[in-house]
Amino acid sequence: MAILKIARMGHPVLLQRAAPVTDPTDPVIQQLIDDMIETMHDAGGLGLAAPQVHVPLRLFVFHLPAARAAEAAGEAGAPAEPALPPQAVINPEITPVADEKRLGWEGCLSIPGMRAAVPRFAQIRYAGLDRRGKPLAAEAQGLHAVIVQHEYDHLDGILYPMRMTDFSKMGFNEELARFPSPLPSLVS
Ligand code: NI
Repeated sequence: MAILKIARMGHPVLLQRAAPVTDPTDPVIQQLIDDMIETMHDAGGLGLAAPQVHVPLRLFVFHLPAARAAEAAGEAGAPAEPALPPQAVINPEITPVADEKRLGWEGCLSIPGMRAAVPRFAQIRYAGLDRRGKPLAAEAQGLHAVIVQHEYDHLDGILYPMRMTDFSKMGFNEELARFPSPLPSLVS
């Protein structure tokens, strides 16, 4: 296991379209997944995509700790979401369930120290392969849906500012903590 270097916004690896993983069971891919999970925990992130660690492959890891799930549900006035253990999603596809988008606060390990309100589909289905190479399919809403859409975007070279519609809702974490700003719950 190793902690990997995370690319920051401005590095070209974050802007390219990543290539599919041909064999998820390849020991090199298994090692990469272990290292990405360790790196995600070390950096305190909810997700990490392979291009963020300079590997342009269609693969990301994510988790939803119980405390973060409860916090997000509280902010949205929604029932608590189930916590999710660290997991890998390989060669994913996303389908929105409905057109509705919501604004939610997001950060990114490639844009350290900042966060912003980003519109995302409220409910999605996604499919791909798990780390054993077996097909996976899931439906997601709330923070789970936000994380998956954010990480998926990294595989297409998209960073969250490229999804934003209102740049007045972006700032440094310390300042946003001092001056909390409410968000409209619905954007479209
Ligand atoms: Ni990110």
